[in-house]
Amino acid sequence: MPLFFNPLEAAAHRLSIVPPMFDYFGALGLHAIIAAARTGIFDALSERPRTGGELATDLGLDPRRTEALLRALTGLGYLRARGGRYRLARTARLWLTTGSPTSLVAALEFWERTACVIWPRLEEAIRDGSPPTPFYALLESDPALARSFHAWTAALAGRQAAATARAVPVPRDAGHVLDVGGGHGLFSVELLRRHPGLRATVVDLPHGLESAADHPRLTLRPASFLEDDLGHGYDVVLLFNIVHGLSDEETARLFPRLAAALNPGGTIVVGDQFGDSLMPGRASRALLHLLDLNYLAAVGGRVRTFREVAALLRTAGFRRIRHRRPLGSPATELAVARTPTHPPPPRT
Ligand SMILES: C[S@@+](CC[C@H](N)C(=O)[O-])C[C@H]1O[C@@H](n2cnc3c(N)ncnc32)[C@H](O)[C@@H]1O
Repeated sequence: MPLFFNPLEAAAHRLSIVPPMFDYFGALGLHAIIAAARTGIFDALSERPRTGGELATDLGLDPRRTEALLRALTGLGYLRARGGRYRLARTARLWLTTGSPTSLVAALEFWERTACVIWPRLEEAIRDGSPPTPFYALLESDPALARSFHAWTAALAGRQAAATARAVPVPRDAGHVLDVGGGHGLFSVELLRRHPGLRATVVDLPHGLESAADHPRLTLRPASFLEDDLGHGYDVVLLFNIVHGLSDEETARLFPRLAAALNPGGTIVVGDQFGDSLMPGRASRALLHLLDLNYLAAVGGRVRTFREVAALLRTAGFRRIRHRRPLGSPATELAVARTPTHPPPPRT
């Protein structure tokens, strides 16, 4: 929530004079922005400032409850109020209106379900280590959730793809990129824009490809990267935001298959959040640890450190492992590695 303590409030929290209510209220705040997005309040205010009464009439809402919601959203920092009229704060205009290129509105359902369906099972998982309901299998049987989840990953990628593509080392003579679990395909499309001689194949489950980008040099291949043949002869493999959803065993099985799919001297680029380096600062670290817990609760995965990813890559035969932090891509760092130019001779 775009809400900042004044010095008195900060002191009251630091000294524990007030109870730590922001976690409870954070959950309520999520429902407040969902209600405002779904009733059309954010979109209506993006056209022009209005009073609560005008909004209630225009959108067919209950006037008293609308006014209460508007006050709560103003308190949370999403709206500004002056002379009885409400207007959008910059953060709501950027992230919570449907017309914004950075809109997260389509992803609200995914977060609603994450908070209301997935996280309530956390206690059980912590007690007995019970595995989460397989998230991607759940998406297979729940098209609305799948659409919302993929809208979320596409929104994040849309913000970061250009910066990330600049940091991906594509050899001059590279011909073919494999984008493993590439879903929306936006990272591939950005690489295709930068490298006119390149083509790319996105492998993802059928629901992941439903709203994928369209590009003449982009092939969409519905398949499971855990079970199906991935082809071969690739110069670059992208593995973006995949490893955090896999167990060590799954990663240890996948990496050698990717090494085999690459040409000798080919490049693998693992894009993810790395626990040992991302986002300095106390609040950012708290978010990273919550994200780690979310991966655990949702997919049985976790945030790994760069060192852990590098060790898994090394075991799979990758060499020249480097760490890159693309500027302008705060949520994705890269582990870049190469397959040996000459594969080791077969053992006799
Ligand atoms: C967190 S999203 C990452 C999407 C994209 N790479 C990005 O970074 O924005 C994980 C993707 O992996 C796909 N996926 C998960 N399990 C898969 C599997 N076994 N085979 C193929 N795709 C899978 C999901 O459908 C989803 O698109």
